[in-house]
Amino acid sequence: MTDFAALQEEALAELSQAAEDAALEAWRIRWLGRQDGRASSLLRGVKDQPADARASYGAAANALKRALDDALAARQDAIAKAALDALATTAALDVTLPGRPQPLGRLHPVTQTMRDCVRAFAEMGFRVAEGPEVEYAAYNFDAMRIPEDHPARDMWDTIWVDTLIDGEREMLLRTHTSPNQARVMERTAEPPVRVIVPGKCYRQEATDATHEWMLTQIEGLAVDEGVRMSDLKGTLYEFARKLFGQDRKIIFHHSYFPFVEPGVEMAIDCFICRGAGADCRTCHGTGWIEILGAGMVHPEIIENAGWDSSRYTGFAFGVGVERVALLRWGIDDIRHFYQNDLRFLGQF
Ligand code: PHE
Repeated sequence: MTDFAALQEEALAELSQAAEDAALEAWRIRWLGRQDGRASSLLRGVKDQPADARASYGAAANALKRALDDALAARQDAIAKAALDALATTAALDVTLPGRPQPLGRLHPVTQTMRDCVRAFAEMGFRVAEGPEVEYAAYNFDAMRIPEDHPARDMWDTIWVDTLIDGEREMLLRTHTSPNQARVMERTAEPPVRVIVPGKCYRQEATDATHEWMLTQIEGLAVDEGVRMSDLKGTLYEFARKLFGQDRKIIFHHSYFPFVEPGVEMAIDCFICRGAGADCRTCHGTGWIEILGAGMVHPEIIENAGWDSSRYTGFAFGVGVERVALLRWGIDDIRHFYQNDLRFLGQF
């Protein structure tokens, strides 16, 4: 008759001597290994027992195997815990201290605002397109009805690129996203067009609380039969409500851009002084902050695309994304955005 109790005692005595991983593994293979482990072999021996002894033999062999499994797990735990305790007392390392949090990056507030603007227009059926930041003067100005020597070129103090392309084509850092009106029309066979073009623009500005030399715009263009000024107003009003909520006030002023007729500017009520500050730095005492220019696409630009301007009409707009970001968070100076101060950027 196999002496299970003696075997168990022998196994446990051996186990108590094993102090590291390799020794534990050797013990496991010796006793519990699937092929030749002693406990496993005993279990397989059930079939060689006389019929009347099989049940009690099997139960005892199973109990032995289970006891050894449990003992191994307990021994592994005890060794791991002892190692941690040793580390905590010997090394100058307190393993109970919480870890240092990894600083998580986040999207720049202008990027967040850009995405919200794009989403607002996308929900109204505008598709997103892109265009180059280094642009031909021909697109930035001429195609937009701003010929050389036209005083309107002074509206955008331009950063020119030194090199002439093909010896003659002047290039610049685009001063607005409007050249993409021409670029989009050029690659569209026939209206309808309903597109927005987000991107960075550059101007040689004397910077102040609302002007930076780099700015982000979203150009919008819709051309189709029967597009009217009321469509422009409705679209931009809906945009303002999506971004600023139902109670924000907007106002349209007449304005001049050579590529639209008529032209307007849309402004939102100043959140800083609420219209009360004559010397408010942000709205310059007007009570309003301009966030976009817009207007009805000039018929000449529609004709330049090869379309019949007596059949097709359109509206266009250019949103200043930094201005929108200033307004929605009540930020008092546009220059914060590009100074890379994490104390500022971390707040959004
Ligand atoms: N491109 C103009 C600007 O940068 C804005 C604008 C876009 C105005 C489209 C009218 C239509 O000031």
